[in-house]
Amino acid sequence: MPRILSGIQPSGELHIGNYLGAVKNWVELQERYESIFFVADYHSITQPFEPQLLRRRRREMAASLLAAGIDPAKATLFMQSDVPEHTELTWIFNSVTPLGELERQTQFKDKSQRQESVMVGLLTYPVLQAADILLYRGDLVPVGEDQVQHLELSRVVARRWNAQFGGGEDYFPEPQPVLTPARRIMGLDGQAKMSKSLNNYIGLLETSEQIWAKLRPAATDPARQRRTDPGTPEVCNIYHLHKAFSPPETVEMVAVNCRTAGWGCIDCKKVLHESMDRELTPIRRRAAEIAERPAIVDEALAAGAAKCRVIARETVDHVKERMGLA
Ligand code: ADP
Ligand code: TRP
Repeated sequence: MPRILSGIQPSGELHIGNYLGAVKNWVELQERYESIFFVADYHSITQPFEPQLLRRRRREMAASLLAAGIDPAKATLFMQSDVPEHTELTWIFNSVTPLGELERQTQFKDKSQRQESVMVGLLTYPVLQAADILLYRGDLVPVGEDQVQHLELSRVVARRWNAQFGGGEDYFPEPQPVLTPARRIMGLDGQAKMSKSLNNYIGLLETSEQIWAKLRPAATDPARQRRTDPGTPEVCNIYHLHKAFSPPETVEMVAVNCRTAGWGCIDCKKVLHESMDRELTPIRRRAAEIAERPAIVDEALAAGAAKCRVIARETVDHVKERMGLA
């Protein structure tokens, strides 16, 4: 059975972009595949952070993933830094990763430009990600579109290691991304990708009232200045959110009423709000249950780390053996 694996940084609260672009897919795929998911806390220290806040967010991210539907009876959930082999394999992979490949990663170029002094961790971030995946010899990686380039790098690393040390065998599979139809959700401003680091998101666990307060003023098709102006659904972020949350009949009705100015944008947003409530209410309920019984999170993470340490150790032992390190 192919193994799927993915991670998410605890750099803020889980938002509907993360959910629709990645985590919702994790929940579906755990039914059909052997699945491993983790909170990428070592990745999150490559950006400025505050220790107290990080401590809280790591836990909250694990709890949110369980609330979103990751089921410890079906999938393995763990905290990246609880399995030391991730950093051990990263060091080893540094020796098969071409510098040029890291320097041309879009994320590195973006984030390094925004900082006065750039730390090495930001450059080698994708090597840690390759180690995350290849430690478990993951085949499929469900992520949003922005991670596709990092996965290409993981394939370069797998290929190079196999060629130099595999002894004629492709020990590491070349991992492939698995994208959802909602591969890139825009923020409420309609300008940039919805992101934890920009204040343009709807948190997965926000209340119905909080969500409405954000939806109401959210950007729509700028052509709809007045209630009677017709619009183009495809250019409107609210329409794309309908495609993610509303049933196909509703999506069709939204498109018609936008093109003919049958509805105003507020009418359209009210319908979206109802659809979102339908999907998110059970998630909020589960989050409340988990908050009542925090041991659920501790137990899931402890069991996940114990299981992953065994697999990870086996891989590192094999790698060291092949490389003359053991
Ligand atoms: P953020 O950019 O909010 O910090 P991460 O980089 O931690 O989010 O991404 C976690 C997962 O969610 C990744 O698989 C990423 O591709 C996906 N993702 C993040 N933002 C979006 C978005 N706006 N639309 C679709 N998927 C997204
Ligand atoms: N870089 C990913 C992100 O920002 C998180 C991540 C870390 C990841 N390791 C991974 C995703 C391994 C998939 C597989 O979203």
